[in-house]
Amino acid sequence: MRLRPSALLRFYSLCGLLIQAAATKNKVKGSQGQFPLTQNVTVVEGGTANLTCRVDQNDNTSLQWSNPAQQTLYFDDKKALRDNRIELVRASWHELSISISDVSLSDEGQYTCSLFTMPVKTSKAFLTVLGVPEKPQISGFTSPVMEGERMQLTCKTSGSKPAADIRWFKNDKEIKDVKYLKEEDANRRTFTVSSTLDFRADRGDDGAVVRCRVDHESLNATPQIAMQVLEIHYTPSVKIISSSSWPEEGQSIVLTCESKGKPLPEPVLWTKDGGELPDPERMVVNGRDLRISFLNKTDNGTYRCEATNPIGQNSTEYVLIVHDVSNTLLPTTVIPSLTTATVTTTVALTTSTATSATAISTRDPNALAGQTGPDHALIGGIVAVVVFVTLCSIILLGRYLARHKGTYLTNEAKGAEDAPDADTAIINAEGSQVNAEEKKEYFI
Ligand SMILES: *[C@@H]1O[C@H](CO)[C@@H](O)[C@H](O)[C@H]1NC(C)=O
Ligand SMILES: *[C@@H]1O[C@H](CO)[C@@H](O)[C@H](O)[C@H]1NC(C)=O
Ligand SMILES: *[C@@H]1O[C@H](CO)[C@@H](O)[C@H](O)[C@H]1NC(C)=O
Ligand SMILES: *[C@@H]1O[C@H](CO)[C@@H](O)[C@H](O)[C@H]1NC(C)=O
Ligand SMILES: *[C@@H]1O[C@H](CO)[C@@H](O)[C@H](O)[C@H]1NC(C)=O
Ligand SMILES: *[C@@H]1O[C@H](CO)[C@@H](O)[C@H](O)[C@H]1NC(C)=O
Repeated sequence: MRLRPSALLRFYSLCGLLIQAAATKNKVKGSQGQFPLTQNVTVVEGGTANLTCRVDQNDNTSLQWSNPAQQTLYFDDKKALRDNRIELVRASWHELSISISDVSLSDEGQYTCSLFTMPVKTSKAFLTVLGVPEKPQISGFTSPVMEGERMQLTCKTSGSKPAADIRWFKNDKEIKDVKYLKEEDANRRTFTVSSTLDFRADRGDDGAVVRCRVDHESLNATPQIAMQVLEIHYTPSVKIISSSSWPEEGQSIVLTCESKGKPLPEPVLWTKDGGELPDPERMVVNGRDLRISFLNKTDNGTYRCEATNPIGQNSTEYVLIVHDVSNTLLPTTVIPSLTTATVTTTVALTTSTATSATAISTRDPNALAGQTGPDHALIGGIVAVVVFVTLCSIILLGRYLARHKGTYLTNEAKGAEDAPDADTAIINAEGSQVNAEEKKEYFI
């Protein structure tokens, strides 16, 4: 509903009149128009509450504090109720302050300050007493818990007023999905609050720290914390780690059996092909490690590591294949340069192709040493060039002989001499490569 402007104006002017009337009254009667001033007080159970009542102007009129049960506590500076906890702080014409120490929950309520004018003016102060939550307790934990079992942890704290807040943390990470329960305590003033954490035990949670944290305004920003370290038992898990990815004869190898489990499986059992380790002198078990020295091909087989703890057992296998002593680990720089040198000298015999062959061999020396395909191509090329040169020589010789018939035989013999030479050169080239490979073998 909205007020029309005229209605609002009327309302404001009415207020103004009332304020004016009050002011006039004050001026005329002094303290008579005044109300004493008080403030609500909040105190933690066991603490001290100060109740203050003030009057700005006072013509020697008495002040009084009374409790929620309407009993007078102080009348000016005179104590009225026998209670050692209640003391006078200050009494003057302007103020009556008292303190209540060791405040209990039953002290909570409305206190009244009265100014004994005619009629009596009063002001109320509400004393709120906070109930401090007790140290929380975690229940429902059975140690140890088997992996996969359901776990219900309950954290409980009594005596909080208002009801405290409970939060769960696992390794400092908050768990949100929890059940919260609030019950009134027998005193009907405070509360017992509890929170239940429900989860399935997992091996990853073994050793995790679960905390239940209680926050409350009475705790002065220092939460109450209960802690529980989880112990979760689980069957072993095993893994074999080999020290070598390519075991060779004569070398040694270490197989490490990494086993986890709670309780820790110890020791582990090593077997070969379902039986005992055949050669205890070369096959030494040290803790989780199996060391086999001077590997031999007869060591081929399946090695099994078995780990057992009270919960169960688990095993894993490693298939060992002992390889021949390898010849692949050559210093690669030695052989190619050797081959290049051989090829260069061989090619030098076939005068016309020497330069190109050298160019190829220097550009890619490994092509000659390692690959057979380019080898044949090169040799084929050399043969073709040699044959071409030989043919040219024969033609030239033929023409020469046509002119100088007398010298035919010697010259032909000379030309024929060239051809076998070239072939030999090629054979040599192949031969020297074989040599190179032999040398390669030798260098190993
Ligand atoms: C109450 O008053 C006394 C005396 O003035 C003072 O020492 C004390 O700190 C006060 N307590 C509180 C809670 O204000
Ligand atoms: C209040 O009482 C005191 C003595 O008790 C007196 O000196 C003072 O004048 C009185 N004040 C008023 C306003 O009556
Ligand atoms: C004092 O406390 C009472 C009761 O809780 C409440 O109704 C009132 O508004 C409070 N007054 C002030 C000034 O906070
Ligand atoms: C055995 O260990 C493996 C991993 O190492 C695991 O995945 C498996 O669940 C384990 N078996 C049992 C019965 O615990
Ligand atoms: C491997 O073992 C066999 C039989 O035990 C033996 O005759 C042979 O000499 C061994 N070889 C090496 C390289 O130790
Ligand atoms: C061991 O394994 C290697 C590689 O597979 C094989 O050459 C060799 O014959 C095997 N030796 C035995 C005794 O099984």
